[in-house]
Amino acid sequence: MTLMMSRRAVCAGLLAAPLIRPGRAAASAPAPLTARTASVQLAPPGYGMTKVWSYDGSLPGPVLRAAQGGRLSRRLVNELAVPTSVHWHGIRIDNAMDGVAGLTQEAVPPGGSFDYDFALPDAGTYWYHAHTNSMEQVARGLSGALIVEEATPPDVDADEILMLDDWLIDPDSAQFYADFTAPMMRSHAGRMGNLIGVNGRFDHRLKAGQNARLRLRLINAANARIFVLRLQGMEGWTVALDGMPLASPEPLVEEIILAPAQRVDLIVDVTAEAGTPAGLLYAADDDSWQALVELEVSGRASGARRSAPQPLPPNPRMQIGGLEEATRREMRMEGGAMRGMASGRFEGQQMDFQELIQRGQFWALAGQVGRGADPFARYRLGETARITFVNDTVFPHAMHLHGMHFRQLSEGAAGPMRDTLLVMPQQSAEIAFVADNPGKWLLHCHMLGHAASGMTNWIEVV
Ligand code: C2O
Ligand code: CU
Repeated sequence: MTLMMSRRAVCAGLLAAPLIRPGRAAASAPAPLTARTASVQLAPPGYGMTKVWSYDGSLPGPVLRAAQGGRLSRRLVNELAVPTSVHWHGIRIDNAMDGVAGLTQEAVPPGGSFDYDFALPDAGTYWYHAHTNSMEQVARGLSGALIVEEATPPDVDADEILMLDDWLIDPDSAQFYADFTAPMMRSHAGRMGNLIGVNGRFDHRLKAGQNARLRLRLINAANARIFVLRLQGMEGWTVALDGMPLASPEPLVEEIILAPAQRVDLIVDVTAEAGTPAGLLYAADDDSWQALVELEVSGRASGARRSAPQPLPPNPRMQIGGLEEATRREMRMEGGAMRGMASGRFEGQQMDFQELIQRGQFWALAGQVGRGADPFARYRLGETARITFVNDTVFPHAMHLHGMHFRQLSEGAAGPMRDTLLVMPQQSAEIAFVADNPGKWLLHCHMLGHAASGMTNWIEVV
């Protein structure tokens, strides 16, 4: 620590003298974020390396950090053989920077680049991922964590990002199963991996002493997997969901359910004694509890547990007024295996389910299959919106709104603010948000195979 500090001070000293000159062309060019192929050791030793699509050669991509109230600037350089774009998931962003190919920008062709530069109004845990053919590009590795720092972060001994993911890998070759569009997956729960990991590793580990206090930032980057999680040898609180602070920390008493694209910030205390098992467990497909992250407990960080944490400082614009006067709309979710639907509107034409299947489409949102020419709804800037999702399918869906966070309404009460909501089969859920960000915003399922086969709609705020 001291060594790092002094080296940094020395470097700063060196830089201060001769290198600062007028004419800041170099200083204003955003740092690159390069989409390119790479080989990484994803599978356990004994298996080969996996060819991935990466940001800057690593999987996940580099952790991007910036201060709340500041800006993030990155030049996406596309060294892939296919067009791509970057979406900054959960940032209440300038619409032109939202990264949705075909809606907010043109996809960046191979060899091309695009300068992203935007303000960061909210502190919290966010992430970035490809938003051009994301069903394939995210599954191949194009995602990373984006952390917006509070001016005064909570007092913890360590701040850990845990990016949860799963990969579908052929055990013989260690390469991704290449059929990213398999209808069997898209019409069911989505592309589920056979290898589960955190931060690009199947064996990600943490170390801490007993009574250490950790901030854990969980991000579900999987295409379709809903993680059900439990703490072992740790106790704590949820302090934020999808980046947004809770009004008061919620003690963790139940399992944590993290749908694709959702984040949860936990503050946990290590209660396990040195040498006893601890970590994060997940419910495996056979319902057994398996280690996702092992925490190695050695020694004691302090003699006793600390008192309960304070809430994180609130972000701006977290109130939702005008619920009574708000326009109410319903978005019916239909289709998929074992249920289907009568018909839906695809590329301007009404089609029955068989015709849709022939075009590789399986789902509809409010009767619309895929992004249509017209939005699901247009809102006046500043208006309060209410949308009820009615899940008339036999699968859960993780509904994500771009550009604005919402709160779920149940029995008149507004829940925590978030950007992605899990809607279970045969259930409905109502959300409310203030349409305070002008532009064209996607509203889609974050099971990416569903999004690519019908479950993508959009709204417009004017
Ligand atoms: Cu995480 Cu439309 O995106
Ligand atoms: Cu879905």
